[in-house]
Amino acid sequence: NAPPWPAYRGYHEYSFAHATMSVRLPTILGKGIADVHQTLNQESDEDRITDLVSCIHRMEDLMDDLTENSKLRPIVDDGAGDIPLWNKEIAKYFQGKDFMNAPWLFAEAYKYRRLRECFSLSKYWVEYDVFFRQKCDTFARSSTAVFELASRFAQPFKHEDGLTDELKLKANRLIFRELTQVCLWGNSTDLSLLIDMSEEDIKKLQSTGGDHLAATEKNILGNHLENLADYVTSLKGGRIDFILDNAGFELYCDFVYADWLIQSGIATEIVFHGKKLPWFVSDVTRKDWDWLLNSCTYGYLFSEASEAEMDLLRMMGRRWKQYEKEGKWKYEQHPFWCTGYTFWDLHSEAPDVFLELHKSDLVIFKGDLNHRKLTYDCHVPYATSFAEAIGPMASQPGAPRVCSLRTIKSDVVCGLPAGVGEKLDEEEAGWKISGKYAVILLSEGRPD
Ligand code: F6P
Ligand code: MG
Repeated sequence: NAPPWPAYRGYHEYSFAHATMSVRLPTILGKGIADVHQTLNQESDEDRITDLVSCIHRMEDLMDDLTENSKLRPIVDDGAGDIPLWNKEIAKYFQGKDFMNAPWLFAEAYKYRRLRECFSLSKYWVEYDVFFRQKCDTFARSSTAVFELASRFAQPFKHEDGLTDELKLKANRLIFRELTQVCLWGNSTDLSLLIDMSEEDIKKLQSTGGDHLAATEKNILGNHLENLADYVTSLKGGRIDFILDNAGFELYCDFVYADWLIQSGIATEIVFHGKKLPWFVSDVTRKDWDWLLNSCTYGYLFSEASEAEMDLLRMMGRRWKQYEKEGKWKYEQHPFWCTGYTFWDLHSEAPDVFLELHKSDLVIFKGDLNHRKLTYDCHVPYATSFAEAIGPMASQPGAPRVCSLRTIKSDVVCGLPAGVGEKLDEEEAGWKISGKYAVILLSEGRPD
């Protein structure tokens, strides 16, 4: 199960793999260690302190392994359900490989699993998330865009009085197109890339106004939004799955989108798939999910906001929590999403997930990492069709309808009209890692 194109690896100096493996990952880990120091300084219990000091030592060992480019070793068996998946993959494909010559995607995921191991071997700190503080903090600094969206979408959705079915459909298409873009660009605020963002940086990235969206639509280089809108607005009472990416503002945009999909009658069930472990800095865990719902409903994150604005946020928070209570929104966290496997192996390594996704009318994969996993993170020609690039996720019997909403932050790019990628290569250095461009790509799958 592998495409004919070579996978990116850390020693490929021409690719973002190199900068990530040699500079970004040690920086991220260093920030993680600093976070644990902060926690340690606020502890008073000796047993908990010494236990946490051992976690710090394991993190320092990981830092040495990363910076000295050590060979990948098996994950220590801490009893977690994902250990067999990890160690099988290491033994089968990556025995003897080091951080730089293993495939980038695998080596990068492996680093996050090793980071988990630093805590899973402890007594008191098994669930500790070194990224949690950052995730909460960035959302708290996103107030402009948070209230821009709240002011438009908090009130219950209903069509203007007296519209014909045809006009309702037209209106639905317009809102759907807009919210799909909100959901897409919500992926720009990525903490693994934007270390130490200023409030101004955040604001620029999160602009959700109509003019801004119209201007950025031309940056969607491979764009199946028309087909997607045709299909989604034809659904009545369907099931839509989100393979989530980042917590905080991106998840908030996902909520606004999913809320409308329910209120419009398009979907009666939304299943969100998050991560079991702290992952690639900003990815959503169960704790981030609960935190966001509760912060919107009860929080005091936005000291500058007016009472009226806070009421809107609370109104949405309460509605979203109600969806969860009624089972209209579900949160799942299968261990497969935190392994080093690409989605070319989803049907064979996690057949239960594949069968579950088969029941969905549409599976939306958010963000860059999910896109890398869909496409095997390899050197695919730009004009390769999305369906071809995702291999079994399009061609395997039972493959669901798949959509990727991704701002482009790494090398693998497919689904572009002929010549577009080549032209950008000539004219705009760094276009594949800036997050300025995006794709909305759709595969029809093989539903029975
Ligand atoms: O290290 C690179 C990467 O894996 C890229 O996929 C992207 O730059 C980032 O980390 C994660 O982005 P996202 O949150 O959109 O998946
Ligand atoms: Mg992410």
